Amino acid sequence: MATVSLESITRRFQHVTAIENITFEIPDGEFWVLIGPSGCGKSTILRTIAGLDTATSGNVYIGDTCVNRLPARQRDVAMVFQNYALYPHMTVADNLSFGLRMRGVDRNTIRDRVERVAKGLDLASLLDRKPKQLSGGQQQRVALGRAIVREPQVFLLDEPLSNLDAQLRDEMRAQLKELHQQFRVTTIYVTHDRVEAMTLADRIVVLDGGRIQQIGTPLELYARPSNRMVASFLGSPPMNLLDGTYDGTQFEIARQPFPPLPDWQGLKPGQRVELGIRPEDVEIADADTGHFPVCVSIVEPLGRETLVRAIVSSAEDEMLAILNFFIAPTQPLNPGDRVWVRFPLDRMFAFDPRTGQVQHYPRSSKTLAPNEIVKKKTILK
Ligand SMILES: Nc1ncnc2c1ncn2[C@@H]1O[C@H](COP(=O)(O)OP(=O)(O)O)[C@@H](O)[C@H]1O
Ligand SMILES: [Mg+2]
Repeated sequence: MATVSLESITRRFQHVTAIENITFEIPDGEFWVLIGPSGCGKSTILRTIAGLDTATSGNVYIGDTCVNRLPARQRDVAMVFQNYALYPHMTVADNLSFGLRMRGVDRNTIRDRVERVAKGLDLASLLDRKPKQLSGGQQQRVALGRAIVREPQVFLLDEPLSNLDAQLRDEMRAQLKELHQQFRVTTIYVTHDRVEAMTLADRIVVLDGGRIQQIGTPLELYARPSNRMVASFLGSPPMNLLDGTYDGTQFEIARQPFPPLPDWQGLKPGQRVELGIRPEDVEIADADTGHFPVCVSIVEPLGRETLVRAIVSSAEDEMLAILNFFIAPTQPLNPGDRVWVRFPLDRMFAFDPRTGQVQHYPRSSKTLAPNEIVKKKTILK
């Protein structure tokens, strides 16, 4: 096990800058998730750490060693991809032990490790089967097992669950978490799935356009996103955002007057803002206490709660925004219904509509410790 540090890693392909100035340090044994939209540079970062790609500039450290010039096989990392390629002619047991046999590890050690990993991954009864006699989920467990038996210093997982169906993905996710709790191998996990990121990570690195947007624990990022991209990327459905203007005493949002937010100073008349509220914070109200009338367009019962998608429109029926919110499953709301909603003022975020940077956090998130700055590694040259 080891720390993994990236220091100002940039990778350019001809005219494309895939990743730029990526810097972070993962403490020994932590589980970090890289998340962001497709093409934001997640795989490039992972491949650079693995040694399958070479950065244009910057340094990669595993433990105290700068591995820039070390070939992949000397880096002591194990990588699992979305497309797990098992050896089709080998049994599960042979697939699991192959890497160790190639390294000349002694037979007793191999047997012990394979046994332990097979047990941990629920593969013990499948050891004599060939890959084609396994389900997709079982094959993926073998691919993970093959990486785990090597007892690498670092695990690199690139969207390892995205080929599995939803139920299996949930199960595997829990199993991965359990495995990490058991083995405590430093892990970097790439996904575009926000639920995987929130549930698995000690810390999440949010990426967009090849740059780090924010690093923090799942709850820190959820409560205190540093910009609109992070705010809308984590959380499902994403945070509601509404354009508005400050007139010197109050806001105007969707052609409705809206009170100023508590504790927010420094607003200038004429200032444009984007106010944000999480779907779970929107309340149903009546015409006296509500802030906006909305028109329900879609009602999605989820069991424990019901998700409502509604349209915020102007008096002239011009559609201004979509609002997502939850109601109790027993609450009778149907498509076409008009209801008033209320936004608790102490739960609202505000963003700069031009830069997307956060300008105001809700009071309810202030009790949370500020984002810990991930310490930059001091380099000994
Ligand atoms: N070998 C390559 N040649 C040219 N461009 C590449 C290459 N690999 C990746 N890129 C570009 O770098 C960016 C990041 O890609 P990638 O790391 O695969 O993103 P992600 O894994 O987040 O989807 C993309 O714009 C992609 O097109
Ligand atoms: Mg990728």
